[in-house]
Amino acid sequence: MQPNSVIRTFKCIKNVSKIHSGTHRLFHKSTSNAIEFTSVRYPNLKRGQYSNVSDVDIAAFEKILPGAQRVITDASELEGYNTDWIKTCRGRSQVLLKPKETEEVSAILKICHERNLAVVPQGGNTGLVGGSVPVFDEIIISTQLMNTVISLDSLSGILTCQAGCILGNLNDYVSEHNLTMPLDLGAKGSCHIGGNLATNAGGVRLLRYGSLHGSVLGLEAVLPDGEVLDCMSSLRKDNTGYDLKQLFIGSEGTLGIITAASILCPQKSQAVNVAFLGVDSFDRVLEVFKESKHQLAEILSAFEFLDSEALAVCTDNLKLNSPLSSHPFYVLIETSGSNSAHDEEKLNTFLESMMDAGKVLDGTVVAEPTKIQYIWGLRERVAEGLMHDGYCYKYDVSLPLSAFYQLVTDMRARIGSKATRVIGYGHVGDGNLHFNVTSPQYDPEVMALIEPFIYDWVANYKGSISAEHGLGFKKREYIYHSKSRSAVKMMKALKTLVDPNGILNPYKFLPDH
Ligand code: FAD
Ligand code: MLT
Ligand code: ZN
Repeated sequence: MQPNSVIRTFKCIKNVSKIHSGTHRLFHKSTSNAIEFTSVRYPNLKRGQYSNVSDVDIAAFEKILPGAQRVITDASELEGYNTDWIKTCRGRSQVLLKPKETEEVSAILKICHERNLAVVPQGGNTGLVGGSVPVFDEIIISTQLMNTVISLDSLSGILTCQAGCILGNLNDYVSEHNLTMPLDLGAKGSCHIGGNLATNAGGVRLLRYGSLHGSVLGLEAVLPDGEVLDCMSSLRKDNTGYDLKQLFIGSEGTLGIITAASILCPQKSQAVNVAFLGVDSFDRVLEVFKESKHQLAEILSAFEFLDSEALAVCTDNLKLNSPLSSHPFYVLIETSGSNSAHDEEKLNTFLESMMDAGKVLDGTVVAEPTKIQYIWGLRERVAEGLMHDGYCYKYDVSLPLSAFYQLVTDMRARIGSKATRVIGYGHVGDGNLHFNVTSPQYDPEVMALIEPFIYDWVANYKGSISAEHGLGFKKREYIYHSKSRSAVKMMKALKTLVDPNGILNPYKFLPDH
């Protein structure tokens, strides 16, 4: 494992023509001063009654974290950690702490608890709901230096590691042992496994391997008062008491700081194929999905879609070339199995039947790793491409497939020419739509056309207002659109029990009322 090495999410493919020759790094820490402070954009939000960080506190943190560059107070260095990836939230923290060990996290939180200092846990800072950055001046505790693989049992496939390991690095590491991480997402070059657990990240492998609630066998977290909660089992079956680790998966840094985890890694697939297909309507997307489940069955590992506007984000803004001519919708199908001849035959038979039936109009199939990566880039880089338009209003909803794309059509009609783009793409195989709108800069008028209308729309169809990105700062007030009063009441009671002073990630996840 190479500590601190940054993975390039997309490599340049030299042997394919038409492909851009640049390299791509997702991790961009430089930010512009033009991004409005969250406290200014949301003037009604008041800072909690927390203490201010004093020189004595800084000295105490320096004692816990000896050596250079572990207690950061330099404003320019802090800027990237104060601003989220999507550049919609910006805090004013004056202190960034970089522990390496669980005991250091514990010692830091003990001080914060005693002194009533608010903190925000931060992993790779790729979160998309404003959860990973301070709202006011919360202390940032980064897991950047907690990046050690503790053990890998290649027989059982159980990986145990610290929370700050970068997902892509972990995948490279376990693949040397013929294993794969059970999750994959476009931010893999920067996001940390601790951040993935804290957000219960979904991504493009959920269809095959299920959610992290199933893959995580053990977890260690430091509670807000500094106590270390040890749930580090690596057993597949263990029905003794409440399964406490599950509470931390998806808790978005509000109950504890995850410091380590054991994860069950499946076998790496020997044969992978990717098909990129053009279809003429969203109904066709669904027909192809239904038939792919039937015909590809156990080898189907991903089913994603983009509308034509979403692909245009990659072709217009990132200058990527599409291998297909223009179509209203595109489908990306991945198969993963152990026998390439068997899988290819199955995939080809399926594609031929779809073409013969007129359900698929055009398509390309690739099996070579660099080409697979390129095709995946057309889907996974939409988020990055959207940023080139200026401001991105990002929504991530679960919907019944019968109503899935209707949301995009209705919102397009509602927003009209006030936006640069109104697009839909996402994990259709999981019922998860990514609905995005862009404009040159933040425009309150566009925002007022989207919210709260979109949340009411989703609730009306019994969907979820957050399928995988979480609630963070931006969506917490809308939790009641997807959760009952009784459920939120119990969440609040739990938060009060674990974090009575509310120092851990305040202003996030749970609504004020
Ligand atoms: P951060 O952004 O640093 O933090 C996210 C939240 O977790 C914050 O609330 C933070 O306080 C908390 N947190 C972080 N680390 C810890 C910890 N150790 N203990 C406790 N709390 C912690 N998400 C998906 O679900 N599916 C996708 O397909 C997907 N694709 C993406 C593609 C791109 C290009 C980008 C930019 C983002 C994407 N995301 C996706 C969103 C994001 O990558 C995930 O939410 C990811 O899991 C966040 O990990 P992180 O380490 O960056 O966490
Ligand atoms: C994705 O699936 O691409 C991510 O969740 C990011 C996004 O929603 O833009
Ligand atoms: Zn996604």
